[in-house]
Amino acid sequence: MTPESPSPTGSDHTGTDASSAVPPPGCPAHGLGPGGVRRLYGPEAEDLGALYEKLRADHGPVAPALLHDDVPIWVVLGHAENLHMVRSPAHFTRDSRIWAPLVSGEVKPDHPLTPHFAWQPICSHAEGDEHLRLRGAVTGAMSTIDYRGLRRFINRATQYLVNRFCEQGRADLVGQFADHLPMAVMCEVLGMGEEYNDRIVHAARDMLKGTETAIASNQYIVEALGRLVARRRTDPDDDFTTHLINHPARLTDDEIREHLRVVLIAAYEATANLLANVLRMILTDPRFRAQLRGGQMTVPEAVEQSLWDEPPFSSILGYFAKQDTELGGQRIRKGDGLLFAIAPGNVDPRVRPDLSANMQGNRSHLAFGGGPHECPGQDIGRAIADTGIDALLTRLPDLELDCDEDELRWTASIASRHLVQLPVRFQPKPPQDVTQQPSLRPEPAQRTDWEITTASAAGSATAVPDPLPAPPPPPAAPPAPSEPAAEPRPRPGLWRRVLHWWRSR
Ligand code: HEM
Repeated sequence: MTPESPSPTGSDHTGTDASSAVPPPGCPAHGLGPGGVRRLYGPEAEDLGALYEKLRADHGPVAPALLHDDVPIWVVLGHAENLHMVRSPAHFTRDSRIWAPLVSGEVKPDHPLTPHFAWQPICSHAEGDEHLRLRGAVTGAMSTIDYRGLRRFINRATQYLVNRFCEQGRADLVGQFADHLPMAVMCEVLGMGEEYNDRIVHAARDMLKGTETAIASNQYIVEALGRLVARRRTDPDDDFTTHLINHPARLTDDEIREHLRVVLIAAYEATANLLANVLRMILTDPRFRAQLRGGQMTVPEAVEQSLWDEPPFSSILGYFAKQDTELGGQRIRKGDGLLFAIAPGNVDPRVRPDLSANMQGNRSHLAFGGGPHECPGQDIGRAIADTGIDALLTRLPDLELDCDEDELRWTASIASRHLVQLPVRFQPKPPQDVTQQPSLRPEPAQRTDWEITTASAAGSATAVPDPLPAPPPPPAAPPAPSEPAAEPRPRPGLWRRVLHWWRSR
């Protein structure tokens, strides 16, 4: 890639005369690298959102920038330009092996972003027929999921997690809820409910943090998945793993294990971020609290709004140009790398001139990508967020933030932001019996009368009626003959697995 000159006028967006204030070339303190190109690392990148807006102001919808070691990259900031890129597999690929700086050795093997772009034989990096083969197996296995049973499981798992802290009147909704629920659900979906425990949650979080023990944590997860594949080869069940093994694409054991890992980790990280972001938004933004309480907004709409404002993956590194082309007014050369910049694409002023406007359930954000690699697990991610948050708010309707909003902290990388803690308080509640058999009746209607309060309104929180749900229904009868034929039947063995999961705590 040939980065353009910093600015045709010699001034940056602040209007400072660049010729008089030119920092020494490559000075990390100024955020500008060789050629005056902005860096996506170092001090200026501590507020990536602000940096992206500077890039947009300087260059428009596609901007040159530098990754660590001053490796050039195009940042795709425009909503339309991002969509065009991900939907044009003839021009752009996710296969980093054609990336010119990698081919030339400019990108060193120990580059800090290697885990984000290193090619692997998985659907995320494949294209053409190979992508169809691998992704076809993943989506084929996903198509067997019974969403009604899944939602019941999500509800039960939420009750279980809330039981662990409800008597204390205080909790950290990241460490005790958002980090756990997606792992409990994904272990169940994959067919390894017995592996779900605090240790696997810790291993996944540790791996994503990239700490010194990340390799050992990854190994722990890979071994659990290896055991699962071996078990399902000899003892098939009605779960994602068995359907992946039996898919006509005939994946090898290595391919199966690698795809289970991608699904588990992608699902875990993204959905944990989504849960934390929506809960933070509801607890801190009076606009959403008022709209949810007043019934003008449902939980699924709040989830969609969060997918616009704080996408769980803020960018994907990356896409790579297969030929010389043009994007957003920039000349892109064959072998150039491009950052699929989801968060700035979602706030492109050409699609959202007023960022405070309610998106009212509009789903045309970039949070799940688009084109051939569009997220195949988005319905599962949405089900976990919608059902989990709904169930949590029903159990604890008087939740309030237990710290000042400006005390909240995030860990951030180029790829995502993760809220570190979300402390809340509420009136202590007794635990709820979660061993009752999941009901086969339709899910209750969406609630709209949440009584979420802020610290300043804490006094009124005590007046909220006890939210304990009605007594458990009698043991469920077999499915009524009048059940709509179109509804998928509950997965055999689901209740057995719920009981096993509950008893093995
Ligand atoms: C809120 C939750 C989620 C978000 C925001 C999300 C977002 C994304 C994004 C942005 C991509 C990449 C698109 C690209 O490469 O251009 C992706 C791919 C993928 N996601 Fe998700 N995801 C979520 C949940 C899930 C879940 C629950 C699963 C599995 C059950 C899953 C499985 C995958 C897989 C397998 C891919 C690779 C697809 C391919 O390359 O063909 N995701 N996701």
